[in-house]
Amino acid sequence: MKITVLTGAGISAESGIQTFRASDGLWHEHRIEEVATPEGFAANPALVLEFYNERRRGLLRPEVLPNDAHKALATLEQALGDDFMLVTQNIDNLHERAGSQRVVHMHGELLKVRCSRSEKIYPWLSNLIGDDRCACCGLSGTLRPHIVWFGETPLRMHEIEQHLMTSTHFVAIGTSGKVYPAGGFVEVARKLSIYSLQLNLDAIDSGSKFDEHRQGKASQLVPQWVEEVLNGQFV
Ligand code: OAD
Repeated sequence: MKITVLTGAGISAESGIQTFRASDGLWHEHRIEEVATPEGFAANPALVLEFYNERRRGLLRPEVLPNDAHKALATLEQALGDDFMLVTQNIDNLHERAGSQRVVHMHGELLKVRCSRSEKIYPWLSNLIGDDRCACCGLSGTLRPHIVWFGETPLRMHEIEQHLMTSTHFVAIGTSGKVYPAGGFVEVARKLSIYSLQLNLDAIDSGSKFDEHRQGKASQLVPQWVEEVLNGQFV
């Protein structure tokens, strides 16, 4: 058994982090073009930096902790080793804090910044402001959130595709599948006859391409599913 898991905002919802497309989600409060595109950043850097500063402060709140779904995936990684890849669209660090060691953050990471000149990446826990100087080039205005914005290429795609295409199972957890290329992983799985399972709070979509859908909260569904894998009941 070789598994590729894709997680989305739904897995962190029960840890107190807002999803994107819910009626109280981030994209109902902010315009994507303004805060999550290179053009938006060029037009109003202060607004974009503050948007991510707010997210970063939110993530660092003491009450935001990994939940049982994050923890179960860390256990699965331990058990399956290289036959397991955890790909996340999330920019939080809750998978790592639950114990996962090899998380692939395809949309970047909130607690890192990047120099747009050298492409060097730095850990960053405080607010990022336009005046902050980069450690590599000593200039201000070169640092940006290490986030993949709309119109930019997601990270580590080659590695992800290699793993996905040689997997026996693909499992999508807490993601609406609205953003590509992640939203297309299930189509890749289907073409290659890789068994696909969706775990989501929502009921199954009418046009779903998944072989199996389980409806419920990630904190309940994920530990149950991991238990099945470890007991050899999920085949
Ligand atoms: P969305 O907000 O689009 O979808 C979250 C999904 O999680 C929905 O399908 C919910 O039904 C489900 N959900 C909510 N609570 C849940 C729970 N407790 N248990 C299980 N499922 C739950 O978030 P993503 O699919 O992650 O990209 O969004 C993908 C990308 O769109 C994000 O990475 C971000 C955004 O624009 C960038 O910013 C580049």
